[in-house]
Amino acid sequence: MQTVTVNLVSTSAPRSYPIHIGADILTQPELLLDYLGQKRAAIVTNTTVGPLYLEKFRATLAAHDVVSVPIVLPDGEEYKNWETLNLIFDALLTHRCERNTPIIALGGGVVGDLTGFAAASYLRGVPFIQVPTTLLAQVDSSVGGKTGINHPLGKNMIGAFYQPQAVVADTSTLDTLPDRELRAGIAEVIKYGLIRDPAFFGWIESHIELLLERESSILIDAIKRSCQHKAEVVEADERESGMRALLNLGHTFGHAIENAMGYGNWLHGEAVAAGTILAAEVSQRMGMIGEGDVDRIRNLYVKAGLPVIAPNLGPEKYLHLMGLDKKVQGGKMRFILLEDIGRAVVHAGVPSPILTEVLTECTADA
Ligand code: NAD
Ligand code: GLY
Repeated sequence: MQTVTVNLVSTSAPRSYPIHIGADILTQPELLLDYLGQKRAAIVTNTTVGPLYLEKFRATLAAHDVVSVPIVLPDGEEYKNWETLNLIFDALLTHRCERNTPIIALGGGVVGDLTGFAAASYLRGVPFIQVPTTLLAQVDSSVGGKTGINHPLGKNMIGAFYQPQAVVADTSTLDTLPDRELRAGIAEVIKYGLIRDPAFFGWIESHIELLLERESSILIDAIKRSCQHKAEVVEADERESGMRALLNLGHTFGHAIENAMGYGNWLHGEAVAAGTILAAEVSQRMGMIGEGDVDRIRNLYVKAGLPVIAPNLGPEKYLHLMGLDKKVQGGKMRFILLEDIGRAVVHAGVPSPILTEVLTECTADA
């Protein structure tokens, strides 16, 4: 097992937390027992992950006298909303969960984001543990404390920063992950290489086949390195007042795609991949990177089986949806652009003609 620590400064209670990464570590409840002092926990999962892992996980906890309340949500990005959040509150109240009853998220990023937001607001905040079961959640969403839900007008628009007490990423759970979901997770792994680690980008290029074959040690290396990057960024800028925004490479375009195509139709990682190509095309037209760099990025996504052509929504619709992005400041859109493979910057001055050109020339009818 490998452990990465997220070191967070604290004025009162300790807030730093471990990310444990390894095969079959869900059967090691000692990783969690320190956080389960009440010997009672609520476990939030969904109708897909529940049948695969819930009872096994509950039995492991029960063997250590921890009683658990299962909360099973409908599966899908389209359920990342108020109604589903309320299902969690209903269950927590019905089962009289208390202020020191931890809530465990067992699932992908949708379950993690919903559960984290519920934990942040139930009784004004209860302990929260992430047990991510998708590659995307293991390399990104379970770490860093962004929680929340979608709004019909915009993706991830309602939420809270709320850090977990621990993350337990059991890589064996990835055995059951559909190929398409694995590829979507690889999009977020590639992101770390693109924004801050050219050597890692090269490593992904040379290990992409093994990643797609789910070679265990290669997956663990990719998850560990991704979590180290995420931890470093979150430690430096927990609330995204600066460099954390770089983690949103491709997301301004990607969130617009997810919203316009209907939540769940394009997976988050797929929208990020196609969105990153648009960001790279803008960067190239701004004279920041060369055409060869854009081709290199595109080739890696193609090898990873990810989409590289964003849907043609029309520039107006893109601009309208991107105007709701959380990075907008003083009404001005800010984009994450590439100065090189391995170096990203926040840019507030992308000329409209360049945006319109990219959104017209580099998209295709869906
Ligand atoms: P997801 O949670 O929808 O999971 C993908 C699918 O895989 C679902 O059908 C799920 O039920 C299923 N699944 C999960 N684990 C499985 C397993 N082990 N075996 C078989 N099936 C399994 O999607 P995701 O890609 O994990 O997360 C995407 C979400 O994460 C988006 O809502 C995105 O906005 C959010 N996100 C949040 C952050 C953050 O920092 N909080 C970062 C990136 C993405
Ligand atoms: N996934 C973006 C962030 O955590 O900031």
